[in-house]
Amino acid sequence: MGKKLKLAVIGKPITHSKSPEIHQHFANQFDAKIEFRKDEVAQETLEKWLADFFKDGGKGVSITLPLKEAALNYTDEISDRARLASACNVIYAKDGKLFADCSDGFGLIKDLEENIKVSLKNKKILILGAGGAARGIIPSIIEKNPAKLKIANRTGSKALLLKEDLEGKVNLKEKNIIFEAGDLSDDFLLSDSYDIVINSTSVSTQLGESIGLPKALFSDTKLAYDLFYAAENTVFMQEALAGGAEKVSDGWGMLVEQGAESFRLWTNLIPDTSRLLEKPID
Ligand code: ATR
Repeated sequence: MGKKLKLAVIGKPITHSKSPEIHQHFANQFDAKIEFRKDEVAQETLEKWLADFFKDGGKGVSITLPLKEAALNYTDEISDRARLASACNVIYAKDGKLFADCSDGFGLIKDLEENIKVSLKNKKILILGAGGAARGIIPSIIEKNPAKLKIANRTGSKALLLKEDLEGKVNLKEKNIIFEAGDLSDDFLLSDSYDIVINSTSVSTQLGESIGLPKALFSDTKLAYDLFYAAENTVFMQEALAGGAEKVSDGWGMLVEQGAESFRLWTNLIPDTSRLLEKPID
């Protein structure tokens, strides 16, 4: 690779993004030269930012909050997994066209199956939250044939809408997956036990905040997984451990693995994630 590959991550806020360091680490493995920008971009300026970036020879962009849904409007092609998620976290230029894709679900599954070594097949899974982060991962979870999937959200109606949307796109009956949606009431949460509980709410971004889950929720839980990552266990992870969850994890591994998949889309190179998985970049 002679010329520097122009890459970027955009969103708002963006200062804390580790994407430049992660992708530099990947590029170093192949002696690939990259230039990785980190730009704060809001919805109002997204269209112009993308047009300027790609006109200027840009190759690829990581898309983070709150642009994952809006970015779909400014690409020529949308992958199946981005269409299912109604969101994209990566855009790349190829043959004069812009492609939108979603590697979040891929990143989560890779982290669960290969790094943490938990299989989703025939498991009972609870997802907390029904926002963009939940949308990004649920199609990939369905693909793995869990026995039961429940979405619980503070605003129960939003969980129901998400469920209806997915039922219109995926044949869940054929897959024999029991799929339910509801709110965060004890009635709904404690009507089952769960092998895996995944926190996709934005609560962990607010330091010290708790979702206020009943302790009994975690009594049979093998793994409680927070999509958010932090230096210390999040409140969700602490509460899961206190409630009896066997294992907890934050979303660092998912971030690294979705990044590796984005890097592959931009460069056709598959980076080794093992060292980054061991130790978050400071
Ligand atoms: P994201 O793209 O990160 O998912 P989002 O689309 O704004 O962001 O969604 C945030 C999610 O966190 C929602 O499911 C939200 O619940 P509501 O739909 O009821 O707003 C959830 N959330 C945010 N703060 C919460 C809190 N204090 N307790 C429980 N859930 C919360």
